[in-house]
Amino acid sequence: MAPLNALTPDQLAQADAVVAEHRGTPGSLITVLRLCQDIAGYFPPELVERIARGMNLPVAKVYGVVSFYSLFSLEPKGRHQIRVCTGTACYVRGVREVLDRVERRFGVKAGGTCGSGRFSLEPVRCLGACGLAPVMVVDRDVHGGVTPDSACEILEGYE
Ligand code: FES
Repeated sequence: MAPLNALTPDQLAQADAVVAEHRGTPGSLITVLRLCQDIAGYFPPELVERIARGMNLPVAKVYGVVSFYSLFSLEPKGRHQIRVCTGTACYVRGVREVLDRVERRFGVKAGGTCGSGRFSLEPVRCLGACGLAPVMVVDRDVHGGVTPDSACEILEGYE
């Protein structure tokens, strides 16, 4: 039986094509990782090893880069990414209560993904929209002035 969250043959073939296109191009690892994450959504060990082999790099180096940049993830992500700003302006305007309520309502812990795979929740530093505090971003949609109630209502719209 395939392991949970295993990549499909199609995803692996696409990742191989990305690696083949950039192999031998100096400084292309970040580009390869970005494109491979778009394909797979995250970096399971089999993908990290495949990229390392294909790029002729040590596996530890690829792991090092993936873990260094917050843009890359070693964990599977939910269908929707919730980012909640915990910067000062959002904090003083009650974002802690928003986070607590979202965690309880959707069964997702900050920094994690809910069991159904619907949401990943990530607290982040100032999003640069302090005038809208408290701010929650769902995928690419910015929601300002959220309250515990309105945040949950907004999230109900994302299946
Ligand atoms: S502190 Fe939240 S957007 Fe700046």
